[in-house]
Amino acid sequence: MLKQSNIIIDVHLNNQNPDAVKEEIRAGLLSTPRTLPTKYFYDERGSELFEQICESPEYYPTRTEHELLKTVADDVVTRSGADELVELGSGAATKTRVVLDAMARAKQLRFYVPFDVSEGIVRRVAHELVEEYEGLQVHGVVGDFLAHLEHIPQGGKRLVMFLGGTIGNLGPEAVPAFLSSVFDEMDQGDFLLLGVQLITDADRLEAAYNDSAGLSAAFNKNMLHALQPVLGAAFDPEAFDHVARFNRSEHRIEMHLRSVREQVIPIPELELTLHLEEGEEILTEISTKYTGPHVEALLTQAGFSPIAWYTDPAHLHGLALAQKPSG
Ligand code: AVJ
Repeated sequence: MLKQSNIIIDVHLNNQNPDAVKEEIRAGLLSTPRTLPTKYFYDERGSELFEQICESPEYYPTRTEHELLKTVADDVVTRSGADELVELGSGAATKTRVVLDAMARAKQLRFYVPFDVSEGIVRRVAHELVEEYEGLQVHGVVGDFLAHLEHIPQGGKRLVMFLGGTIGNLGPEAVPAFLSSVFDEMDQGDFLLLGVQLITDADRLEAAYNDSAGLSAAFNKNMLHALQPVLGAAFDPEAFDHVARFNRSEHRIEMHLRSVREQVIPIPELELTLHLEEGEEILTEISTKYTGPHVEALLTQAGFSPIAWYTDPAHLHGLALAQKPSG
């Protein structure tokens, strides 16, 4: 009970102007190609579906990164000297525990800052972790990491962690600005641990986003359900197919909802009537795959000093450790 006093949760998502949210969705639906914002995957059910995808045999990135983290966490903690872990897109915080354990072993663990779009999951994780780690203070932030990074609390010596390859969801035009905004929020001497999915063969990549149990398909279609509070009951998930393909030239998986028939969808909330052709696709996610040198170049451009680069034996996943230099 008393452990509750070790928890603070700030919610910034509800502060968003509803008109701005609608305008973002409207602009996406009217752009070429048509898009929907990826963050809408993660309502309560979407976050659960993602956890299930992570356990599917085809979706290798999560388990690969988890194993890799186990082998490097002590090194990361020693090199960073951090007593505070800030995690962007923290989700269920499964891999987080590997790093928290290493910090606890080094007697450096004081603060954890989970930052995620899903309020339910931030609250749940905060309560679990203060029980699991004696003396840990959790300051959760519910927000969009493209809009609310400034709300990361000031703290100790920080390790900022962004795992899973979630940076892959950003387009090439957005990545430099995002890394610069992370850099700006950090203090001199703070460390960043960035997880990226590496380029590998197309079959393996496409299988990871087309699992045979249909979890990826359910996750993709759930976005239409998650959008209901904003759009009303506009979309019928049954009228869309899940499609995920590897785009070689952009080295990324592109996930779409494909209209199974011609449809006219009135969306009064957006003052819009959407006409979709049979087979027309709405892009819901890109998931970019990287190489080590590409990541290093991006980090350097943003001002970071690269400190270490770790990969698994099959080179499916990478973890880049970098530092905001002093002076
Ligand atoms: C959570 C963004 C890392 O891009 O691989 C999984 C999300 N989408 N299956 C990814 C996702 C479809 C995942 N990230």
